[in-house]
Amino acid sequence: MELNVNSVARTVQSPPLTSLLTVLREELDITSPKAGCESGGCGACTVLVDGQPRRSCLTAVCTLDGADVVTVEGLGTPEDLSRVQQAFIHHYAAQCGFCSDGMVVAATAYVNGGGTDDTDAIGEALAGHFCRCTGYVKILEAVAAAARGDECDVGSTASSANNTYVSIAGGES
Ligand code: FES
Ligand code: FES
Repeated sequence: MELNVNSVARTVQSPPLTSLLTVLREELDITSPKAGCESGGCGACTVLVDGQPRRSCLTAVCTLDGADVVTVEGLGTPEDLSRVQQAFIHHYAAQCGFCSDGMVVAATAYVNGGGTDDTDAIGEALAGHFCRCTGYVKILEAVAAAARGDECDVGSTASSANNTYVSIAGGES
């Protein structure tokens, strides 16, 4: 089975029904997708498959022969972070970081798809992504900033519009 992972051609040896999450983490040593619930409910394992967000824990690798897979490792480098990565840092949208890779991947698909800074639309795009740390406000602000194309200085932290807890669809517990 052949995959194009972060623009590198990879041959996968795992059995065909192995989840993409397991292939990425345990065979290909790409560890940004996290094993959270492993049942499709938390978003921590999200990667892009042919440009669309996909729960890698629910995706059998045999369904992906020839697909393009992108993880956070493929979005930017420490020296050249992507727009969404810069926004997450500037807006302090990651704390422990467990949810962040899935959030960044889903937000990247949203921004690349022409998503706006509308809070409801961002919440819908991130539906089902759970964060136990941030209260979601800063995540929503970061994605909005990336959607607007704001300059985001990773050497400073933006002040938040508010510090109250909000929920995104399906992500309120
Ligand atoms: S680990 Fe895949 S959705 Fe939770
Ligand atoms: S930053 Fe800790 S779970 Fe989201």
